[in-house]
Amino acid sequence: MYFIRCSRKSRAPKSYFCRVKLYYNIRKLYTPTGFTARRGAEMAEIEEFDNAAIFVGDDGRILSAGPLIEAEGPAPSYGRRSKVTIERIDCRGLVALPGFVDSHTHCVFAGERSREFALRAEGKSYQEIAQFGGGIRASVQHVRAASTAEIVNYSKPFVERALKLGTTMMEIKSGYGLSTESERKLLQAALRLGQETPMEIVRTYLGAHAVPENTSQAEYVQEIQSVQLPALQEMAEFCDVFMDEGYFSKEETIRVCTTAKELGMKIKLHADELAETQGAKTAVELGAYSADHLLKVSEAGIRALAGAGLEAPAHATVATLLPITAMSLRAPYAPARKLIDAGCAVAIATDCNPGSAMSENMQFAFTLAVIGMQMSPAEALTAATLNGAAALDRAKTHGSIEWNKLADFVLYDIPRLEYLPYHIAVTDVIAVVKRGEIVAGNL
Ligand code: NIG
Ligand code: FE
Repeated sequence: MYFIRCSRKSRAPKSYFCRVKLYYNIRKLYTPTGFTARRGAEMAEIEEFDNAAIFVGDDGRILSAGPLIEAEGPAPSYGRRSKVTIERIDCRGLVALPGFVDSHTHCVFAGERSREFALRAEGKSYQEIAQFGGGIRASVQHVRAASTAEIVNYSKPFVERALKLGTTMMEIKSGYGLSTESERKLLQAALRLGQETPMEIVRTYLGAHAVPENTSQAEYVQEIQSVQLPALQEMAEFCDVFMDEGYFSKEETIRVCTTAKELGMKIKLHADELAETQGAKTAVELGAYSADHLLKVSEAGIRALAGAGLEAPAHATVATLLPITAMSLRAPYAPARKLIDAGCAVAIATDCNPGSAMSENMQFAFTLAVIGMQMSPAEALTAATLNGAAALDRAKTHGSIEWNKLADFVLYDIPRLEYLPYHIAVTDVIAVVKRGEIVAGNL
């Protein structure tokens, strides 16, 4: 008989005739637990099981996960008439972690901007480069000249590499089109990337990323509200705004987000990245799922985030930190310790984009969270998985290895969790499992 002690509960497969998978011989399994974001000190409270196994139903969900007490004997019985076949998969003593949820990327684009990167090495700032025709507008030119198919071809290798590096769910924002037609191309490309790769993709509309050339700020905000959002709302679950100095003001952000909410969209914000413009507080007031970047967040902003959504059924406004961007812009990291110590729910993500963070590597973000932002490996794990899922309104189904969640996990050849950020810029991923199937690497 198989016995798997569950971290929570277990249930029988729905179907009488089903094939289940048993991933066994997992030397260590680490996971946060829960179906909502973990806040403050809870972020460090992860489960650690020795000699674990993960039982996956034929719907790709986890039937149970935890220490395997014994794995010999007949298949488990789910009633007299059940016919269950078990496929046993030997994980050869590897370490299992939940798949990374990269909850902030701009991973549909065309064309690279390595010249800007070199200019920054010479001392030019992100804003100076934008003023001289670089920055977001340079990517807009590339995207406007490209077809949807070309954007898919350009972006697909990034998504495929992210998968091999342990990411099983990724948010992708538009924002390099800045017109209805080109924003649509980007959202269509993101949709196709989700269909053509094993990566699960959540789409966000970011028309308010910059103001296109030859348009006034006021005209463009009006165009977003009256034309772009009504035309594109069905193609994206979230609406994001680059609320920052030189980009969109608090008032403009509220206008765009109010229209988006009326159309049924959920909100995320780029907040307090280049300057403190009350981004965190505005995100909380708008009921946003996340406030992202936060390099310049104020004490009042931290307090607002800590207090957001404490009463059920409301949700947290997750503080999503993007340490690769801070490193790449040579800016001080976001105050992760202050945010966690104040009781906020913190996530980490790559921000993968051709300007300020050319990386699809969540493990590298994890390393920088530990080295640069003084997060513990356990906190960084929660931030890179469950809290990322919460920032995408997916905490009920993704982000941890436990009963009823999708079986999205990664097997590593590492001795323990701490080794992951410690082994800098190298991946020890052996296999990536998405909905119970091995989709990258092999065992
Ligand atoms: O998240 N902050 C705004 N947008 C991106 C950068 C976009 C770009 O430079 O292309 C970011 O860092
Ligand atoms: Fe971003």
